[in-house]
Amino acid sequence: MEFTSQSEENNELMLAQAHVYNHVYSYVSCMSLKCAVQLGIPDIIHNHGQVPITLSSLVDNLSIPLTRTDSVERLMRFLVHSGFFTTQKINESEEEGYLLTPSSKLLLKDDNTRFTLSPFVLTVVDPFVLTPFLSLSSSFKESGVLTAFEASHGVAFWNFLERDSELNKNFCSMMANDSRLLMSVVVDEGKKVFQNLKSLIDVGGGTGAASQVIIEAFPHLKCTVLDFPHVVANSPHAGKLSNNLKFVAGDMFESIPHADSILLKFTLHNWTDKECVKILKKCGEAIPSREQGGKVIIVDAVVEEQKNKQEKKPITTETQLMFDMVMMTMFGGKERTEKEWEKIFLESGFTDYKITPISGFRSLIEVYP
Ligand SMILES: C[S@@+](CC[C@H](N)C(=O)[O-])C[C@H]1O[C@@H](n2cnc3c(N)ncnc32)[C@H](O)[C@@H]1O
Repeated sequence: MEFTSQSEENNELMLAQAHVYNHVYSYVSCMSLKCAVQLGIPDIIHNHGQVPITLSSLVDNLSIPLTRTDSVERLMRFLVHSGFFTTQKINESEEEGYLLTPSSKLLLKDDNTRFTLSPFVLTVVDPFVLTPFLSLSSSFKESGVLTAFEASHGVAFWNFLERDSELNKNFCSMMANDSRLLMSVVVDEGKKVFQNLKSLIDVGGGTGAASQVIIEAFPHLKCTVLDFPHVVANSPHAGKLSNNLKFVAGDMFESIPHADSILLKFTLHNWTDKECVKILKKCGEAIPSREQGGKVIIVDAVVEEQKNKQEKKPITTETQLMFDMVMMTMFGGKERTEKEWEKIFLESGFTDYKITPISGFRSLIEVYP
């Protein structure tokens, strides 16, 4: 008996050690993924067609020295383990080749014809995002309101982007891809939310990708995108004549054009509760009463309340909690529980709201004056 309990203790100790090691080395996951995206591995496998690609053929296509074959094999072994690629036997032979999985199909190059998260990988796995995390604990000790991002870079996130046109372009492309991917699900699963609207202002709407998906699904709807001048300028749609998609360069804290509805997609989570109340009050001034069809539509996470701590959480809970850490570090914003959302809606003068969960980690919230 004693032997068993000692071995159980040993096992628990070794598993705890592996847990800490895995957690501390978790940056290896994103760095390896970025390496694969930079080398163009998902595209090479995609262009190879339905047949698994052998290691030697992959190395050939990578145009790297043959001496690096072993490194590629080890990179691929790790990414197969993480679910980004899969292996399959080639014909009857013993040799295996690599295929894409649903996750790596989302990592193909951005050619404006498909959803891709490759701009997300390339923009976010970068020192400008990672450096503030290295001084997170110091920021906890400061009594001021500076975010770890501001402490590291000396300016707020949006000013930093404004100063670097290449980074700004990549960020816009990353958000546009997120919008194309998510909003196609939102308009499908939340049709009723948009059906009777006549006009919509997409506040902090980036380059208008979300609005574009909405007007493709609801061509009667007139959308106006409000964002900073340097963001609007990056839109492939801005400046083109369109009856139902317009752009306004401005500041949402200053003024929001009038319409019967407002969309805030993945925007409020960037801000503190106090700032959200300011934005929502401005939104309230821009829309008519509920009886006249006025409402604000928010697409953002609603974090699950931690009722049963032992219960196994879905993968999307981890996504929400990670985004929450990112919002805190980069912007001073947060991912909110339903209770936290309700509090800011009431403080902003709204009277009612309705949450429609959609696939993934975000929800659709209709907020009524
Ligand atoms: C996280 S992005 C979301 C973009 C878009 N809604 C989407 O999901 O693709 C937040 C957006 O808010 C914009 N933004 C930040 N502060 C703003 C302000 N004061 N006035 C207008 N837009 C602002 C940013 O430029 C950025 O495009």
